[in-house]
Amino acid sequence: MKVLITGGAGFIGSNFVRYLINSRRNIEIINFDSLTYAGNPESLADIADNPRYKFVRGDITDKDAVNGVFGERLDALVNFAAETHVDRSIEDASPFVRTNIMGTQTLLDAAKRFKLAKFVQISTDEVYGSAPAGESFTEETTLDPRSPYAASKASADHFVSAYANTYGLPAVVLRCTNNYGPYQFPEKLIPLMIANAREDKSLPIYGDGMQERDWLFVEDYCSAIGLALEKAAPGAIYNVSAGTPQPNLKIVRTILQHLGKPESLMQYVKDRPGHDRRYALDSSKIQRELGWSAAVPFEEGIRRTIDWYQNNSAWLDHARSGEYRNYYDRHYVRRTETFSR
Ligand code: NAD
Ligand code: DAU
Repeated sequence: MKVLITGGAGFIGSNFVRYLINSRRNIEIINFDSLTYAGNPESLADIADNPRYKFVRGDITDKDAVNGVFGERLDALVNFAAETHVDRSIEDASPFVRTNIMGTQTLLDAAKRFKLAKFVQISTDEVYGSAPAGESFTEETTLDPRSPYAASKASADHFVSAYANTYGLPAVVLRCTNNYGPYQFPEKLIPLMIANAREDKSLPIYGDGMQERDWLFVEDYCSAIGLALEKAAPGAIYNVSAGTPQPNLKIVRTILQHLGKPESLMQYVKDRPGHDRRYALDSSKIQRELGWSAAVPFEEGIRRTIDWYQNNSAWLDHARSGEYRNYYDRHYVRRTETFSR
């Protein structure tokens, strides 16, 4: 089986490439990635020379490049490629519209033209919006995206459904909660807090820090995607989550405890505009139909994640150089300057 993985140099994509190479001997992978600031070939250095793995640098909005790679007789596609950071989408939504919507449409057109047997779209829980306390969204919940990022992902989901309905495209959509683990770009909450705490820098907590996220260890998500790739029926939509939403403050305190750092490093800063208060998904459908379940408890996953960043400081330092510094200064200096609690 030959699988095209788009965005495979990013956080979840690189973990999934490694998971497939190591767990499925019959699968060949083409990783198609434009290497934006979030894409990093170093994340796959250990499998770069594997004969079942090939990297192609390309942009999913580039029709010719996409048609070129589809010419390699693909059996399936898993689309991870996206602009993914909510705060960046609030600064400028244009790259999100371009990659997340237009890029997905370019892939859908190629899939239709080349009669691809399976198209797996990696969506997000954010398409449902903020979940009221005590409630978990199902696959039937009406989409209610509330950030520019979420709106672009919801739009892509609608395009996938429209192509399935109109052209019979065999597509599957996965909507997952927040992932954490090795190789996550340090603009996201968990690696950012680990990186800052290691250097005794302040940890920026947006608003009151009581927003809830339902963290899933990335290896658990990889096993869900693997099952969906092999077993999900065309047209299926699956939510994926650990089912244990936790407030941000609790996550940050856990990181500080593991690193032996004081809580005085926490700094409350101006809240994210339009900040979704709570994400929570009901993932009983994928458990029932595909036999998936999360295997890594949060306490184990966060320990493994912190250890990984401690042991891979070169990867972290590289990720935090260059463009990251500009983003960090632009984003966080402004946040703290304009905030008083
Ligand atoms: P990431 O930001 O770490 O990586 C994105 C990858 O896509 C990078 O390698 C980047 O170079 C590539 N890319 C971006 N634009 C591209 C383009 N135009 N053409 C080709 N490649 C391009 O992202 P991630 O956190 O690994 O997320 C992967 C997918 O999972 C995304 O679709 C995201 O919406 C979804 N998702 C992420 C999470 C999470 O917690 N990280 C949770 C739910 C869903
Ligand atoms: O829910 C799935 C989504 O999870 C994915 O679709 C997105 O691609 C991914 O970025 C993530 O979105 P979030 O906005 O939830 O993740 P982030 O790591 O940016 O923030 C997690 C929470 O932590 C959120 O409530 C905002 C808060 N936060 C974040 C940062 C970066 C802080 O308090 N301080 C920070 O510095």
